[in-house]
Amino acid sequence: MNIDNIKKEFPIFNNKVQNNDLVYLDSANSSQKPQLVVDRIYDFYTKEFSNVGRSVHYLAVAATNLYENTRVLVQQYINAKDKNEIVFTKGATEAINLVANTFGQKFLSKGDEILLTELEHHSNYVPWHYLRQSKGVNIRFAEINENGDVTIESIEKNITKKTKIIAITHLSNVTGAILPIKEIIDLAHSKNIPVLIDGCQGAPHLKLDMQELDCDFYAISCHKMYGPTGLGILYAKKKWLEELPPYQGGGGMIREVKKEGITYGDLPNKFEAGTMATAQVIAFGESIKFLNKIGIKNIEKHEKNLTMYGEEVLRKNNSVKLIGNPKNKGSVLSFTLDGVHAHDIATILDEDGVAIRAGHHCCQILHDKLGLSATARASLGVYNVKEDLDKLNESLKKCIKIFNG
Ligand SMILES: Cc1ncc(COP(=O)(O)O)c(C=O)c1O
Repeated sequence: MNIDNIKKEFPIFNNKVQNNDLVYLDSANSSQKPQLVVDRIYDFYTKEFSNVGRSVHYLAVAATNLYENTRVLVQQYINAKDKNEIVFTKGATEAINLVANTFGQKFLSKGDEILLTELEHHSNYVPWHYLRQSKGVNIRFAEINENGDVTIESIEKNITKKTKIIAITHLSNVTGAILPIKEIIDLAHSKNIPVLIDGCQGAPHLKLDMQELDCDFYAISCHKMYGPTGLGILYAKKKWLEELPPYQGGGGMIREVKKEGITYGDLPNKFEAGTMATAQVIAFGESIKFLNKIGIKNIEKHEKNLTMYGEEVLRKNNSVKLIGNPKNKGSVLSFTLDGVHAHDIATILDEDGVAIRAGHHCCQILHDKLGLSATARASLGVYNVKEDLDKLNESLKKCIKIFNG
């Protein structure tokens, strides 16, 4: 599968958006879906549908096998040791809530500390904030530097004897900073502190190897990985899944239920209560196969070239101020435009079919730190090409003309 010609695999690009060709630059928010993934959902519902893990009839067994096949595909994609270290959730948000809730319940008490960074998405802050309220734990934030980066020194400075867990992003959805997560994990482990990585922006763009990385938890958002909505993944080391209590109770996660008490099922069922997002899981298997066919190394190279090109183009435009200049940068271009509010930028660009995101991108702490209420963000995916960034620049010029004359 040739990455330079990949747009044709995505049916959305066959349609006009308000009479324009779609220039989709909002993949950090959610990616578009390849035809294969859309077809897989249709086929499952029309030819193969059954709930999984319950009945023994033909369709139920076949659906269960398909569901479990995706677990193996994910395990292989991220090189986890065991397929039972892959837990399906309704999103990365739920994956992080699962860890915060169960880890907090079992291991945290008043005065303990959780270390986050100033780059974190609300999904990797609010669940920990609940523990501040319920358990009286404290939250520390490793500061960003002037480049919008978090260094190992900034992390080290904030680790104390009370630090019980470190929860950090792999790749910032605003500055694009790729954190030195391997060094951070090694440092944390040398002090016996587990690490959760919010991998929402890392997983679609970077090669992952859980065994090499040795992180304790890694949260993935499937809808940003060319997969369906309503689905996320929690990778967790087996020892944690064994030690942590269940997150939600219900069917499918139990071994035996008596009036006197309940025992829980094997991994990963213990963490998959109720009817799961069956069609989404099965279709996500196609997303993984799609990514495998292109090859993550080719994706990294393609997106790096495009990001560099985008930065070059935007830097030539004197009214554009790029946000962050991290040492290692992912395919996120956040910016402000002199004299124009981010929401106005997004609205004007939309008239030309250029879809970007404007706002705080669920990172209010970071925007407060930057002294900004909102930024505009163009974020890339496999289907983007240089012409998309040229179009972005043209529309920005139009925007400047409208607002600044
Ligand atoms: C860095 C980061 N963390 C967490 C999330 C939440 O992911 P989900 O939509 O799968 O819950 C997002 C999504 O925008 C994100 O960008």
